[in-house]
Amino acid sequence: MPQQIIKIFDTTLRDGEQCPGASLNHDEKLKIAKQLENLGVDIIEAGFPIASPDDFRAVNAIAKVVKKSTICGLARATEKDIQTAFDAIKPAPKKRIHLFLATSDMHLKYKLKISREEALEKIAAMVKFARSLCNDVEFSPEDASRSDLKFLYQALEVAIRAGATTLNIPDTVGYSTPTEFGEFIRDIRKNTRGVKNVTISVHCHDDLGLAVANSLEAVRNGARQVECTINGIGERAGNTSLEEIVMAIRTRKDIFKDLKTRIKPREIFRTSKLVSNLTGFVIPPNKAIVGSNAFAHESGIHQHGILAKRETYEIMKAQDIGLDRNKLVLGKHSGRAALIARMIELGFQLTQKEIDKTFNRFKMLADKKKEIFDEDLEALVMNEISEAAAEWKVESVEVISGNKKKPFADVVLKNSAGKKFHKTSRGTGPVDAAYSAVNKVIGEKVRLLEFRMDAVSEGIDAQATVAVKVETTGGLSSEARRAKGGKTYTGKGSHTDIVMASVRSYVNALNKIVAGKERMKVVL
Ligand code: KIV
Ligand code: ZN
Repeated sequence: MPQQIIKIFDTTLRDGEQCPGASLNHDEKLKIAKQLENLGVDIIEAGFPIASPDDFRAVNAIAKVVKKSTICGLARATEKDIQTAFDAIKPAPKKRIHLFLATSDMHLKYKLKISREEALEKIAAMVKFARSLCNDVEFSPEDASRSDLKFLYQALEVAIRAGATTLNIPDTVGYSTPTEFGEFIRDIRKNTRGVKNVTISVHCHDDLGLAVANSLEAVRNGARQVECTINGIGERAGNTSLEEIVMAIRTRKDIFKDLKTRIKPREIFRTSKLVSNLTGFVIPPNKAIVGSNAFAHESGIHQHGILAKRETYEIMKAQDIGLDRNKLVLGKHSGRAALIARMIELGFQLTQKEIDKTFNRFKMLADKKKEIFDEDLEALVMNEISEAAAEWKVESVEVISGNKKKPFADVVLKNSAGKKFHKTSRGTGPVDAAYSAVNKVIGEKVRLLEFRMDAVSEGIDAQATVAVKVETTGGLSSEARRAKGGKTYTGKGSHTDIVMASVRSYVNALNKIVAGKERMKVVL
């Protein structure tokens, strides 16, 4: 039997970016989109262009540079949304409009406040309108898994007749279980007229931890596109994780016999790191495929088995996902050419300006740290990318701390106009003192929700990387804030000095607030 392709539709930049705290700036989105193209993603859902001018610009910029993957823009079932999505993706050689309308009675009655008949009319008219602009149109009946089956078949038939080329079946609230979801897809394929002429896609959420299992069962029952995100990030508990779905199909060839994806597995680890670094979402060590423990063997019995024959305890090779790394690459005497060559090997496509800046940072780091690993280079580039278009940069941090006197911090920040601002403060510890000095400069009212520090590589001289999550408080009391709900932002930063890394990550999060991406809440 000839091999069939399972299309990978990546929604890291849309559903993934939609999750609390994950806001990415324009350059960061572009970097991720280029890496998704390198990874071999068939369709990149680049954003929700109507959500804000920033979202529009980012989707449009991605559409201009990505050539191999199809660029998709999300739209609600309105002419304005659809036209805006199309305008944003227009420059892309391969483009798709993805429009959605809920079909469950709960969503129709309480959210959209329309009848089933009105929903069918909207689907017919809006899919037709989208098709008048673009040949590639995907329709999603939102909350499909909780919709009345007969009505769902009807809605899908209407979409097919109006010209939809892909029907995406979302388990919007992550309610389904694997056997049930597989049968659901099988029944849709059996009972929907015209379904043979379109691609069936699935979009699963992970509220019960079943998104990957549900998507795999859907594939076994005829779905030929899977929507997913890098590291499984997304609304609430997240989406189907790209790396898990791809490696499951690849590793269990006995089950997914004639099926394959176009993903280049060796790009997986690099993509995962890039998304984690830029979103500030730390990958749990036990995360399947890309967690730091995914290929680590602690128990003596396992280590012994692995040494005798790797397959005793490993079903995949670390190299398969691009994990033959952690090498000592460069040092103090390495030149610019060596740095550029290594950066290219690591998959970074840097501009001349970025290379210059990264080289300067590399030299400074090499003065402090004898051995420079791939992870160190990645951390340097991440600092560079996140600071490139930022309003505030950290110029210097000095602290005095210890157990005798109240810790003291002296912080200098520089704004995008090049003006320096100098503040000092005391705090319960050096980080608290430094954050309070930063607050005096930037003046955003936030609460620190999470703070996490890790070593970028091994050794006592390793760089530290700090990930923070902050919540905007607007000066409200915790009671009022709970009722109103602050917005959360993540930040990441690294340095050999742990306080400096802490300040970088905090300023990175505050920069995202300052960027003022006042985005319309997606009315799903
Ligand atoms: O979860 C969902 O239903 C969605 C749709 C927009 C496809 O994200
Ligand atoms: Zn979703």
